[in-house]
Amino acid sequence: MFRSDLIVGRRIGVGSYGSVWEAALDNNVECVAKVLFPDRDLDPEQYKEKPAPSVHVAASFKREVAVFEALGPHPNIIGFMGATADRTCLVLEEATCDLHDLVKIRAQQSRPIRLASLRNIMEGVLEALHFMHSNGVVHRDIKPKNILITSDGTAKLCDFGMAKAGMPELWRAKARTEIQTLWFRAPELLMGAEYYTSAIDIYSAGCVLLHMLCERYQMQGVLKQPCGCSGGAGVSSQCAVHNVSINFHADQLKKVFQLLGTPNPEVLESMPCSEWFLDWEEHPCKLQSLVNSTVTDSYCSLALQSPENTRMETSALLEGLMSIEHHGRCTAAAALALPFFARGAGSPR
Ligand SMILES: Nc1ncnc2c1ncn2[C@@H]1O[C@H](COP(=O)(O)OP(=O)(O)OP(=O)(O)O)[C@@H](O)[C@H]1O
Ligand SMILES: [Mg+2]
Repeated sequence: MFRSDLIVGRRIGVGSYGSVWEAALDNNVECVAKVLFPDRDLDPEQYKEKPAPSVHVAASFKREVAVFEALGPHPNIIGFMGATADRTCLVLEEATCDLHDLVKIRAQQSRPIRLASLRNIMEGVLEALHFMHSNGVVHRDIKPKNILITSDGTAKLCDFGMAKAGMPELWRAKARTEIQTLWFRAPELLMGAEYYTSAIDIYSAGCVLLHMLCERYQMQGVLKQPCGCSGGAGVSSQCAVHNVSINFHADQLKKVFQLLGTPNPEVLESMPCSEWFLDWEEHPCKLQSLVNSTVTDSYCSLALQSPENTRMETSALLEGLMSIEHHGRCTAAAALALPFFARGAGSPR
């Protein structure tokens, strides 16, 4: 595909790697162009300031194309329509908005996303994750901004710039490497785990469900001095005292424990950052009370089942997705088989 095959319209999104533009192929097919940032033609001013995309940023575009090509199409993954040979421009199916914006608009209008749509969106996200994980791909950046909603309300994952393909049983998390956006980052990564699995995506999917229910991000940690050790100046940096490279994000972790409950001492002791957990406050899990206050009787008024059942099923799904211990977390397939999705037992997958 050539850039000249595309007619580019207005900008509809900006990410950290690229800008996203309304476009059409010269055969009049509507699409979206995700263009490596900065682009000489589309962003002449930015281009003057930052003449060349960094190797890291360019690599994320190449990775995204490779993942689209390896996976092939899926109803809950944004359609990939091609890329230029230099991989600086990706052509994608057009969605109406992303989930972050949808939640924001509905909150401003005091019209929360209805239960049926919320179910549908979560089902789409988990179907896509099931497909990816079964094909050895971890997304590694599941968050509302990376979930697109099409005109018929279907949820489709996008932004595979951080995805990793060819997954063995366990990935080794490189210390100093930021995987996942902080507020959606799985507790094992926040606690300095060196290995992780596709379960990190499942945890983030739980954060997405919480976000839809609460209409605000629940665990908004900030990046700051992680451990108080004199040498551990940066985030994800080398701790001079312990002389190990670690990913340890105390502030985010505190927010996680305040909501999901502080894990028992054995779990904390098994983590690479265990020496910093000595005086950590104990918190009970507050998921149930959060569900009780958001999945209210009036919220369930159009549902076919009782509000009590809906609350029970919502809590069970959240608990399955957001278990602090990664091996306690359910797989995407197991989550889809939960009563929340009313598929009944033994549905084919
Ligand atoms: N196919 C699409 N249709 C409509 N909007 C889109 C589409 N693809 C992306 N967007 C919008 O553009 C935003 C940025 O896209 P994307 O996440 O792919 O870029 P990125 O540079 O990799 O982002 P970041 O690293 O900040 O997550 C999305 O959050 C979404 O709002
Ligand atoms: Mg994105």
